[in-house]
Amino acid sequence: MRKNLGNKTLICPLPVFIIATYDENGVPNAMNAAWGTQWNYHEVSILLAPHKTTDNLKLKKAFTLAFATKETLQISDYFGLESGRRVNKIEKAGVHIEKSQFVDAPVISEYPLVLECEVVEMRPVEEDFQVIGRVVNVTADESILNDKGEIDIGKMNLLTFDSAANVYRLVGAPVGHAFQDGLTIKNK
Ligand SMILES: Cc1cc2nc3c(=O)[nH]c(=O)nc-3n(C[C@H](O)[C@H](O)[C@H](O)COP(=O)(O)O)c2cc1C
Repeated sequence: MRKNLGNKTLICPLPVFIIATYDENGVPNAMNAAWGTQWNYHEVSILLAPHKTTDNLKLKKAFTLAFATKETLQISDYFGLESGRRVNKIEKAGVHIEKSQFVDAPVISEYPLVLECEVVEMRPVEEDFQVIGRVVNVTADESILNDKGEIDIGKMNLLTFDSAANVYRLVGAPVGHAFQDGLTIKNK
């Protein structure tokens, strides 16, 4: 028996992105963002309320987007709990920063997979912004690369956000092949 539950905000899984930016004094900041996705080839889209991060994005037109892992869970959640307007979250979390070689934004060393992005557009959506970013480089720790030098998501403990239960979940093992497993039905 199915039940109607009305309009709920529970698309699952959501990503656990960490957006890192510099402010006008070169101070790095990071925030947690779940309302984002691949938007176009080489582009990402994230819906952001006004934050220290959006101030920095307007100024620098650049950010990095890290993928949270089980190992970075606590710091990733912390980045969503406090504003860089009040506290230096990077110092408080004790993470390490390298400047991106490609955009004017910090790379947080503790995250194995990071996209380096330029801001294409910050489109106002009521009080918020739809931030469109162009990915100009992907930087990955060697530990998550396979023998061919390609990213292997299975080598990292990637987190997702389950907004129905307000929990982080781990991405599980592969269970099928895309563009392939449906062919048995298509070719009947
Ligand atoms: C799991 C999680 C997901 C979040 N997703 C978003 C989001 O998609 N958009 C947003 O504007 N804020 C989101 N937040 C809230 C911001 O991360 C939070 O307000 C943060 O303090 C902003 O930091 P800043 O002021 O230093 O930029 C999320 C927080 C958490 C814990």
